[in-house]
Amino acid sequence: MPSITINGVKSDFTPGQTILQVSNRLMEEGKGVEIPQYCYHDGLSVVASCRICLVECAAPNAKTGQLEPYMGGKLLPSCQTPAVDGMVVYSDSPKAVQNQKAVMEYLLINHPLDCPVCDQSGECFLQDYSYQFGRGTSRFEEQKVKQPKKDIGPHVYLYSDRCIMCTRCVRFTREVTGTAELSVQGRGNKEEIDVFPGVALDNPLASNVIDLCPVGALLDKDFLFAQRVWFLKETPSIDGLTASGDNIYVHHNEGKVYRVKPRTNLKVNKWWITDEVRYGWKFVHAENRLRSPMRTQFGTKVECDFSRAYDEVIEGAKKATRDGKRLAVMISPMLSCEEAFLLGRLARRLDQNAILAVGPVPTLGQDQVFPKGVAADSPKAFVAYAEKAPNARGVRRVLSSIVEPSHIANYESLLGMLKSGNIGAVVLTGNYPSAWATDELMNALTGKFVAVIDTLSSALTDMASVVIPGATWVEKAGTFENAKGMLQAFEAAIPVIELAKTEGQIALDMMAILDGKASAEELSQSVVVQSTLAQVASGTQVMMPLGKAFNAANVRQEMAASSSALGVFVTDVSRPASEAARVPDVEMVDL
Ligand code: SF4
Ligand code: FES
Repeated sequence: MPSITINGVKSDFTPGQTILQVSNRLMEEGKGVEIPQYCYHDGLSVVASCRICLVECAAPNAKTGQLEPYMGGKLLPSCQTPAVDGMVVYSDSPKAVQNQKAVMEYLLINHPLDCPVCDQSGECFLQDYSYQFGRGTSRFEEQKVKQPKKDIGPHVYLYSDRCIMCTRCVRFTREVTGTAELSVQGRGNKEEIDVFPGVALDNPLASNVIDLCPVGALLDKDFLFAQRVWFLKETPSIDGLTASGDNIYVHHNEGKVYRVKPRTNLKVNKWWITDEVRYGWKFVHAENRLRSPMRTQFGTKVECDFSRAYDEVIEGAKKATRDGKRLAVMISPMLSCEEAFLLGRLARRLDQNAILAVGPVPTLGQDQVFPKGVAADSPKAFVAYAEKAPNARGVRRVLSSIVEPSHIANYESLLGMLKSGNIGAVVLTGNYPSAWATDELMNALTGKFVAVIDTLSSALTDMASVVIPGATWVEKAGTFENAKGMLQAFEAAIPVIELAKTEGQIALDMMAILDGKASAEELSQSVVVQSTLAQVASGTQVMMPLGKAFNAANVRQEMAASSSALGVFVTDVSRPASEAARVPDVEMVDL
């Protein structure tokens, strides 16, 4: 394999790779060869316009094999120059360093020094490179050119005076979405990014330009001044709203989610996510989150403890069977595979002949392929799926190991069975980001015992006999199967809100009661402990079950042991690569 040496570090490379790609890989491997870069991005075309990545190179003479200055010894853009076997590259030679300092000085001439009030502060390449590659002082004494702040779309502000003209945002709208809303207008120091008159930056992937902008020029309206980024903790997760299974990071602090960012996975979402996934988590902290179990008493909903709620669900199911009717359990496609497995088992424990159904799978329009005209299976394509549930396939896969696949009802057939009168008790799970039950469902439920495990209050929870508060996907661990059939695991980012419990825990609690391993009263007396989870703020209080605790990894083992068809949950589940230990870029001093 050909090899190249960058700043004294030798590395193999694949023919066709550029010097910068090799160096970026070495950085990821922790070998410490950092070449600064602004305009380069793995997902965009190469324009080599910012000039910060210039390096000095030498390569072996084809005839003599002697090392000679490459391309006449001129500085070369490492983002555009292919690696050559035997090449020796310096990004730390006096000539390369002088260029880095000159580029930094040039970029900062008109850049406002407003880091203390800039949202990008703490994750800004201009700020970081100023320390690493800049001059430290400015020789510029003239007036800075001031450029306007612009509202360029539903989610994005443009602070033009912070822009360094890397054109990543412009190339994104041309190459990835194909919508071309952004362009470079003007010349020289009046050059600025802008939208065309009357055409906002408004496409389903628009907010990716915020992540692409290496400085604080493109800002997220939703996150503006919401939190300093150094307070945020980052948990790798999976899109819990659509069938795409996009890989994401959940950024949170003190048990509150602040934003969602894309996590690179070239097999799924590449470097991008849709705005729907980016902003769809808001229901996690919605005002109408269910925070405590409730039961109907004299026609009104009253809060109760878990023991009462569990007892009523068990009694409601038993009464239905005593009356010669059946229990139906509807498992939402918003729940994880592990939860579907436990709820499926619970259903069978409550009634051997329980009907298992998959909840409604919402869709919106058609799958959208970006950029327009590209085939969905093209390596260039990004697909925004019409299916707005993360795990319909996973729930079906798991339930198929419990009952014959042909016996798994879908939402429509469940409605039909409810109307036929054979069903006396129903357990419905929701966890959708908005009200989901139709009038048709609510009419069909009249006169039956109805238990709802859901996250948001709604007309359905108002009419239910018992309501148990569930947990959203950012509050629990599990596995989703996406539209391509990939099984992807995720971990909890924040603790469960107030008295809610994960649906997996609710199923385990009820099975413990049915097994006589714990009384409902014991199970409802969760103890409050100080969290030791690394991803939640230290000292956060979380509720721990007294009975068997829900642990997604253990449930996957149980699933594999219960059926060979579910062996894939041990062998084929992808997990986020463990993050390399984060090393602070400033020396930490004990005070
Ligand atoms: S707005 Fe940001 S991404 Fe766009 S050209 Fe300017 S610096 Fe680059
Ligand atoms: S990253 Fe190479 S010129 Fe901009």
